[in-house]
Amino acid sequence: MKADRTFEVEVERILPGGIGLAHADGKTVFVSLAAPGDRVRVRVEREQGKVLFASIVEIITPSPVRIEPPCPYFGRCGGCDFQQLNYEAQLAAKSEMIRDCLRRIARLDNLPDIVVTPSPNDWRYRMRAMWQIDRDEQKIGYYERGSRRVCDVVDCAVLRPELQAQLEEVRATEWSQFPPDLKHLDVVAGDESVSFAPAFANFETRELSLSIRGEIYRYNAEGFFQVNPSLLGPLIEFAVHDASGESALDLYSGVGLFTLPLARQFQRVTAVEANPTAVRFARRNLQDAGLDNVRVVAAGVAEWFRSGSVRDVKFVLLDPPRAGAESAVIKGILNLHPPQISYVSCDPATLARDLKKLVAGGYTINSIRGFDLFPQTHHVETVVRLAV
Ligand SMILES: C[S@@+](CC[C@H](N)C(=O)[O-])C[C@H]1O[C@@H](n2cnc3c(N)ncnc32)[C@H](O)[C@@H]1O
Repeated sequence: MKADRTFEVEVERILPGGIGLAHADGKTVFVSLAAPGDRVRVRVEREQGKVLFASIVEIITPSPVRIEPPCPYFGRCGGCDFQQLNYEAQLAAKSEMIRDCLRRIARLDNLPDIVVTPSPNDWRYRMRAMWQIDRDEQKIGYYERGSRRVCDVVDCAVLRPELQAQLEEVRATEWSQFPPDLKHLDVVAGDESVSFAPAFANFETRELSLSIRGEIYRYNAEGFFQVNPSLLGPLIEFAVHDASGESALDLYSGVGLFTLPLARQFQRVTAVEANPTAVRFARRNLQDAGLDNVRVVAAGVAEWFRSGSVRDVKFVLLDPPRAGAESAVIKGILNLHPPQISYVSCDPATLARDLKKLVAGGYTINSIRGFDLFPQTHHVETVVRLAV
């Protein structure tokens, strides 16, 4: 089975990373954009030992959960890779992906059922995006699958209507008005407006606000903000739940999504965040909310742990970027030994790697919940609550 040869396989299930798993002639076949139960003819794109990376050339018998991807860019655009699955199948695949990582990487068995809370909107949900710009070819959109070529996107079906309207405005702007070295544009929406980074032409880095569970959050396009606002209330409720007491830590705290609710339930909170714009907004959000029991530290979390300035913490919430927590951070948490931990993660593989260390350090997993912040893609947000 050399590259360019085609053969038939049956897709068994969807693996972490969103790829379909099949077997043929003693080899493992990874099939992109597949549905579990598909009988397909595939072409080998790449071979690595006993693993073949393949793409579908013909669907012989479609899986019962396969649907026609509605977006005309699907397959070429690198943004979505789950549009071939109906929404129930997307949620089931995500639950299985979390379970697979926890079993295989963290070696955790006897896991409870992992429910993935659906997004109220499975289309037009995204309030944050990064648009790639190719000035030479005059294209604006997202990277194509597996490449750095820009897929020119006129209408992105997962963008909220106000961001889609801005995409159209950016696309209608004269190329002479774009900064010459602009490679990508960060864009985020709020309750009333849209913010861009960098600012150019009429597109400003506006300050935005968003209300969630009665808290007001201010932010702009220069720092992180979550992608799907409709699930943030349930995400906060599950991650913070009824934890309360003297002192809590919020690590990788952004503009304070979890810090504000924690500040209402704990006497003292320390929040640690590296991005200076996010730190500035977090301080402002706390001040506007009248919460003066929080210290927001502008630092890398690992460096902050090395400075050794914290002890006697009852609850740690951590929400690191996709790479997960640095090993110094997990060590720091184990040294602190808080009775409760909530780990919020956007990558089940790095989550599992870190959980393995926390469980080896004496923690037990009490509950796990997925939140489908990213419909039409294989990405999933997971919250794991642990206790000693
Ligand atoms: C997944 S976001 C979570 C932010 C926030 N908890 C929220 O939900 O809005 C991760 C955050 O970690 C910050 N960050 C990334 N690396 C960091 C590091 N080494 N130390 C501290 N903060 C970091 C990013 O700037 C970002 O705000």
